[in-house]
Amino acid sequence: MSQHNPVILFILLLAHQTASLIPPKFQWKTIDFAWDGAQKEAAISSGRFIAANNMPTGLARWKDKLFITIPRWKTGIPSSLNYVYLNGSQQAPLNPYPSWEEGCLTDDGTVMSNRTVVSTFRVYVDKCDRLWVVDNGVADMAAGVKQITEPALLIFDLKTDHLLTKHVFDESVLRESSVLTSVVADLVGHDCTNCDASCTMRGKTFAYITDMGSNAIIVYDLENNNAWRVENPYFHFDPHAGVYKVGGIDFYWSDGVSSAALGPPAEDGYSDLYLHPTSSTKQFKMSTRLLRNKDTPHADIFNGVEIVGDRGPKSQVTACDYDPKSNILFYTQVCKNGLGCWNIDKSFTKANTPVILSDCNLMEFPNDVKVDHEGNVWILSDRQSRFLYETMDYNDVNFRVLTAPADRLTQGTTCQGK
Ligand SMILES: *[C@@H]1O[C@H](CO)[C@@H](O)[C@H](O)[C@H]1NC(C)=O
Ligand SMILES: *[C@@H]1O[C@H](CO)[C@@H](O)[C@H](O)[C@H]1NC(C)=O
Repeated sequence: MSQHNPVILFILLLAHQTASLIPPKFQWKTIDFAWDGAQKEAAISSGRFIAANNMPTGLARWKDKLFITIPRWKTGIPSSLNYVYLNGSQQAPLNPYPSWEEGCLTDDGTVMSNRTVVSTFRVYVDKCDRLWVVDNGVADMAAGVKQITEPALLIFDLKTDHLLTKHVFDESVLRESSVLTSVVADLVGHDCTNCDASCTMRGKTFAYITDMGSNAIIVYDLENNNAWRVENPYFHFDPHAGVYKVGGIDFYWSDGVSSAALGPPAEDGYSDLYLHPTSSTKQFKMSTRLLRNKDTPHADIFNGVEIVGDRGPKSQVTACDYDPKSNILFYTQVCKNGLGCWNIDKSFTKANTPVILSDCNLMEFPNDVKVDHEGNVWILSDRQSRFLYETMDYNDVNFRVLTAPADRLTQGTTCQGK
């Protein structure tokens, strides 16, 4: 008798599907670490570990490791860059990377070696088994910001855990308000497949680092160990897209460009970098031709960023990643507690940019998404709005890692096929 509301039915259907489509691989009420013996008690009593202050924001898979990053928003965060083994329990404790000694700060709050990552939001694993980490170098961000080390890009060889390079950013590429949120590596004309151990550092590679705080992309040229800053008005937030409601909490963010993903190379070797400010509903792109050359004229950069399309109201994105196997760009949908996708060969219309997952329990505040080299999608949800603006209920599961193959998630959606 009563009319079914198709929107409500659709949302119920999605919620039901999420757990079966993309089951949680890991889930935690609070984050804990793989302490050695009595260390934990000592860390708690000295304040070096305050469980309630640890909120993960990024993830990336390499072989049997899953990296989990925790920015040093507050005090009591033992280590910012961490991993768990994929065969671990659902509540697996985190291991500092590259080691306990070098993952953590010393007792007097300094770093022991150049392999220590002080504070990172997100990391990137490339096809050459390298881990790219952009370190803001700060601690206690919420209470007055302590600069422990200079902001830097670190590249680790995942096969040996050796630090290949640490590039400290020159002051001229940063601003007072800089917050470096993500990095993507651009392997030029090589992908290290069938490569022996000795070729890890060879080959031209660029990295594109988003500076969400000062609305810029920092380009790093590995071959020449050089970095420069690229600015464009489209890297800024859209004042009409600053309103959020997640986990029942309203907030306003003016965050600029926060993540980017590389599309496939064209015949000329250049590809498109797909990018977005957090507080925006639009998708942008620009050619790596403009980025790789540090002398690109300002006018070309100014005119070189294109609007691909608009996803519509409440469609802000914190992170995105591109899957070369399926040709799909995946992106978080923060205000919808979900995940969206777009096949980059199709026009960027509402029909071609569906929300394929949405679940206000399992995916409350999806913060990061990555596609690994085997075509599996990984999502981290972390209830960030409660963490920042209210309190977390630590009797509840707050942090989840969900994973499933990309083709299973997109089956029957407009993201598949031509
Ligand atoms: C899990 O994997 C790690 C690394 O591959 C290995 O060292 C460990 O023994 C494994 N644990 C179990 C319980 O299989
Ligand atoms: C890191 O520090 C060690 C010891 O001081 C030094 O030998 C090494 O060259 C440094 N590595 C990098 C990549 O900066």
